[in-house]
Amino acid sequence: MTYAADPMRYSSMPYRRVGHSGLELPAISLGLWQNFGGKDAFETGRAILRRAFDRGITHFDLANNYGPPPGSAEENFGRWMVHDFKPYRDQLVVSSKAGYDMWAGPYGTFGSRKHMIASCDQSLQRMGLDYLDIFYHHRPDPKTPLEETMGALDHIVRSGRALYVGISSYPPELARQAHATLGALGTPFVIHQPSYSMLNRVVEEGLLDTLGELGVGCIAFSPLAQGLLTHRYLNGIPDDSRAARQESTVRARVTEQNLVHIRRLHVIAQTRGQTLAQMAIAWVLRDTRVTSALVGARTVEQLDDSLESLNKLDFDGEELAAIEVALAPLPV
Ligand SMILES: NC(=O)c1ccc[n+]([C@@H]2O[C@H](COP(=O)([O-])OP(=O)(O)OC[C@H]3O[C@@H](n4cnc5c(N)ncnc54)[C@H](OP(=O)(O)O)[C@@H]3O)[C@@H](O)[C@H]2O)c1
Repeated sequence: MTYAADPMRYSSMPYRRVGHSGLELPAISLGLWQNFGGKDAFETGRAILRRAFDRGITHFDLANNYGPPPGSAEENFGRWMVHDFKPYRDQLVVSSKAGYDMWAGPYGTFGSRKHMIASCDQSLQRMGLDYLDIFYHHRPDPKTPLEETMGALDHIVRSGRALYVGISSYPPELARQAHATLGALGTPFVIHQPSYSMLNRVVEEGLLDTLGELGVGCIAFSPLAQGLLTHRYLNGIPDDSRAARQESTVRARVTEQNLVHIRRLHVIAQTRGQTLAQMAIAWVLRDTRVTSALVGARTVEQLDDSLESLNKLDFDGEELAAIEVALAPLPV
């Protein structure tokens, strides 16, 4: 059926400024890392994207390697663009990334100029787009000079392939160096994409302070810790969950300690009148330096549940203190 976006879509989503830039992102953005690839149900992914846009999610995040198989999330997204979102291109912020293993040989990964520019061209081709709104370097490269990778990002903007650039999973000092290098080039470096959730708080050890100081935005990926911070794991691993899948990267995190944390947090969420997923999303957004919570979803129902977090984003001091207690390590 032909898609016409909900005319009310801008009525309830808050938009937050990306650092000191002119760009705004929705408080909740949608990532296509899992559930949108060639092995997933095409119409389910399409329904999730339609619902997301209908509810004010203007930002879709991709990467060269999202699938499986790698590249297939971008290919599917290209089809959804043609059929559903073409009239709305100027209302969307589409991002992609290069830096993880994508094709065979020395040019298919990390941060050389060769990899970055070729990968960006491949992503544009798969998605059928003329340009990306944000293009990221996906992870630090210990071997390529930072100046080379940042120079490639600069070229990507100057050649019209992307409007803004970002970095992902860079530690604070390297992020600072990237900012200085890109600043000297005049490249619009506006955003950092780190992992951040109640179960992974590394960004609190300097990165958020650095980004706040530099005026760079922060989009927090996996705020639900890949689904762990939801009601679904209260009694162990559900059969249809990400942790149950063969290639899962999250199963190792289903530890006794994390299960205790999740159960304690679930009780706090209930007293707030929220699901655990909703509280987990609200919690990363409590810090104004976090521009957007970048969630995943396997079903429309999950996305709808997550979006209800917007009804209660605030925390009082007692709730925040109770969350700290709930996250305290278990005695050994
Ligand atoms: N830059 C990077 O290196 C990097 C790395 C990872 C992710 N990312 C980005 O971040 C995006 C989100 O990552 P993520 O998928 O790990 O995010 P997430 O939001 O932490 O986890 C999503 C998963 O949680 C479960 N879920 C979602 N909403 C739920 C709800 N309301 N109730 C119960 N369960 C719910 C589903 O798992 P089940 O399928 O098990 O039900 C879903 O697949 C990615 O798509 C990607 O764009 C970036």
